[in-house]
Amino acid sequence: MSIQIRGPLFGVASRCEPVLAALPDWFGNDSSVQAYVRTIDALPTFIAEYDGQCAGFLAIKQQNPYAAEIYVTAVRCELHRRGIGRRLLTAAEDWMRSTGIEYAYLKTLGPSREYEPCERTRRFYFALGYRPLEELKRLWANDPCLIMVKRLADGTAPARMTNDEARMSNE
Ligand SMILES: CC(C)(COP(=O)(O)OP(=O)(O)OC[C@H]1O[C@@H](n2cnc3c(N)ncnc32)[C@H](O)[C@@H]1OP(=O)(O)O)[C@@H](O)C(=O)NCCC(=O)NCCS
Repeated sequence: MSIQIRGPLFGVASRCEPVLAALPDWFGNDSSVQAYVRTIDALPTFIAEYDGQCAGFLAIKQQNPYAAEIYVTAVRCELHRRGIGRRLLTAAEDWMRSTGIEYAYLKTLGPSREYEPCERTRRFYFALGYRPLEELKRLWANDPCLIMVKRLADGTAPARMTNDEARMSNE
C-alpha cells in the first residue's frame, strides 16, 4: 500500500470531512463533524494520501511557543492498524520539533467513562509515547477529559518567561 504523507497544509477541511463523517463512534453526528471541520480549516494539517484520496489526517493547534495540541486525527476505518496513524503523528511531531515546540498533548475521553472505541484511541497514543497527565471531570459538559502529553524536545526558547507569558499564566 503506497501512502504519502503531505503537510503541513492549510484550508484542507473539505478533504478531511468524509473521514470524520465515516467515524460516528468517535465524532458523533453531523453538527459535531461540522464543528470540527470549521476549526480544522485554519489549522496546520497533515494528510495521508492513498490513491489520491485522503486516507487520514491530523490537525495541530499551537497554544503557545512551547506546546501544541493534537487537535484531531482520524484514519478511514477500513485502513486502521496499518501504520497510517503512526506515520501522520511522526510527521507532525517532526514538524513541531522543527518549530521549537517542546510538548505535544491531546484531549480525549477519560477512562472513568467506559467506552471501548476511545479505549483504542488511548492505546494508540500510549503506544506512540503519550502519557496520561490528568483526567478533568468538568472541562467538558458531559464527559471526563483525559489530557495525554509527550515531551518532544529540550527547550531552545529563552529560559525566562516573558512578562506577557507570566501574566497570562496568572489569569
Ligand atoms: C487512532 C487512529 C488515528 C490510529 O490510526 P491507525 O492507523 O489505526 O494506527 P496505527 O496502525 O498507526 O497504530 C500504531 C500503533 O498504535 C497502537 N494501536 C493502534 N490501534 C490500536 C488498537 N485498536 N488497540 C491497541 N493498540 C492500538 C499499536 O501499538 C499500533 O502499532 P502496531 O499495529 O504495530 O501494534 C485510528 O484508529 C482512528 O482513526 N481512530 C478513530 C478516531 C480517533 O480515535 N481519533 C483520535 C482522537 S481525536
